[in-house]
Amino acid sequence: MIPQTTAPPDGLKAALGGLPVPRLLYYASAGSTNDVAIEWAEEGAADWSLVVADEQTKGRGRFGRRWFTPPRSALAFSVVVRPTEAERSVMGRFAAWGALGVASALEALGLKPRIKWPNDVLLGGEKVSGVLAEAVWSGDVPTALVVGIGVNVLASAVPPRELTDFPAGSVEAHLGVKPARWHLLRRILMAMAEWRARLPTDEFLRAWEARLAYRGAQVQLGEARGVLLGLSRDGGIVLRTPSGERLILHAVADAHLRPIHQFSQNP
Ligand code: BTN
Repeated sequence: MIPQTTAPPDGLKAALGGLPVPRLLYYASAGSTNDVAIEWAEEGAADWSLVVADEQTKGRGRFGRRWFTPPRSALAFSVVVRPTEAERSVMGRFAAWGALGVASALEALGLKPRIKWPNDVLLGGEKVSGVLAEAVWSGDVPTALVVGIGVNVLASAVPPRELTDFPAGSVEAHLGVKPARWHLLRRILMAMAEWRARLPTDEFLRAWEARLAYRGAQVQLGEARGVLLGLSRDGGIVLRTPSGERLILHAVADAHLRPIHQFSQNP
């Protein structure tokens, strides 16, 4: 059963004006907005239905990791997607869609975000946003996708270093002022609406690739190492290995893409 909602703040309601969101479920505190959105999708939620929580107590990241959403400091939201026929052939792009939406919104604020493949958004090398896309199934047919996005808006949203496996930061720290959360959410959703129209195109792939972190640098993913050349058509990363071979990699269970610093003591 979908948990009891809270009345949304006026600022949030106003921020959704003119966006393609048919319905909003808002929570002062939720376990995970993805869990609520999955349940809602199973009950028939329409395309672009939106779940927003001020705080998450069981926020989930990729590979079953925890995702921290303390109250009044972050964005945690999930969008229900009913893919069109054209989008069904590029389902793997939906997580990057979220990252591109966040990156575009941050660019509109004058920042220079990078997307750490596949879909973490970095500012100054620190992770400020993550995306968790999950399919909703009816038997063995995917009927919807839930795209969940977390953004560390204020500095108080950043988890302690010992609880993360990659340096984390906030939009506030890089902007120098406190961004208005609902205004940022509006910008992200607007950008997502624009990118969605181009999701199946090469332009989408090029936009994702143009923002890739560590392009031209040495990286490591699981056991593989090489220079990051770019993206393959199906959204994998292309590496040139030390032996000169071109290697295309897709998600490697529980392994993060990492830069290899040339002079590191612990390569
Ligand atoms: C990651 O970087 O590992 C992905 C993090 C995704 C976090 C968001 S916050 C909103 C939505 N609800 C969740 O439980 N997770 C996603």
